[in-house]
Amino acid sequence: MKDKLLNIKNEAISLILSAQDKKELEEIRIQFLGRSGSLTLAMKEISKLPKENKPQMGQLINETKGIIEDTISQKLSTFDSLPREALAKWGRLSTFDVTEPGIKPNIGHLHPLTQVLQDAIEVFKSLGFQIADGPEIEKDKYNFEMLNIPKDHPARDTQQSLYLDTRGSKVTPGEILLRTQTSAMQGRIMEKIKPPVRVIVPGKNFRYEQVDASHGFEFWQIEGFFVDTNVRFTDLLGTIDYVLRKLMDENIKLRFATTNFPFVEPGIDTYMECTSCVGVGCSFCKMSGWSEIMPAGMIHPNVLRAVGYDNQKVSGFAFAIGLSRLATLRYKMDDLRILTNPDLRILEQF
Ligand code: DAH
Repeated sequence: MKDKLLNIKNEAISLILSAQDKKELEEIRIQFLGRSGSLTLAMKEISKLPKENKPQMGQLINETKGIIEDTISQKLSTFDSLPREALAKWGRLSTFDVTEPGIKPNIGHLHPLTQVLQDAIEVFKSLGFQIADGPEIEKDKYNFEMLNIPKDHPARDTQQSLYLDTRGSKVTPGEILLRTQTSAMQGRIMEKIKPPVRVIVPGKNFRYEQVDASHGFEFWQIEGFFVDTNVRFTDLLGTIDYVLRKLMDENIKLRFATTNFPFVEPGIDTYMECTSCVGVGCSFCKMSGWSEIMPAGMIHPNVLRAVGYDNQKVSGFAFAIGLSRLATLRYKMDDLRILTNPDLRILEQF
């Protein structure tokens, strides 16, 4: 049976390759794959084989069938792609309607997260901020230490960190990790640039986090910071209020609460009324009606000193916008996982 299949395959391939036109190709297809084609008949013979040989032969027949079908469709495409002049010369030019509308290709567009990010970049540019990019694999020094979070600081516990396995390299264990916060770029930038600095850093962060409607293990933030002489807390509040109203709409409801981050003093959290449930309570806002959207604060003197700034002369504020959350709230969704779902039926709606 094996030999028989091999012969069928070889014969089919050589006939297909020398076929002159589509009609001949169709005849060959029927000869092998048609109702009483030789491969179809061979298939029927399987039932007569001993039980233990059946699966193997079945597989072989399917492979042979696949090869014949592929060869036919490849050959078919050479007919379709022959130049028009050649087709005309050989009398095989079929008529077609030139007025018939063509097939419209699907035109892609920017991902909703990118759209929100680009809008945010425009708003911050208009306020004089520069845009920076930084590494996703970061040193512990920038991700934590220079942000006033030394090795034994309890704040590390809140940022379930993913350290890299450095075995076999010269790097000391625990020195590099997937960055948990774009704040890591504060140190990298400020140690290079003297005030005034006004920078935003959009980027991805990673935490070993329980994924839910408002948390991802991989999530976007826009970190921002501003250091100059006389930067005040009210400048920070005004900036947050201005930026969020520009990115959402004028009528959003915001509220601030004090909180603690080691790299700012005082630290605040900005909450926006949840747009999905309009304050009623849903899975995204954990039934509170409010979503934490933009933590911030006045940069801690220890952070300013760590980058070599004189904290008696300059002051600054820092903030982070949860970009994935902002996009979710902007499009009135109740789960940020929707944004990274690769389902085109969802993405096409933006
Ligand atoms: N990096 C913090 C986090 O991801 C968020 C944050 C809080 C950033 C306060 C800041 C800030 O710049 O001032 O949890």
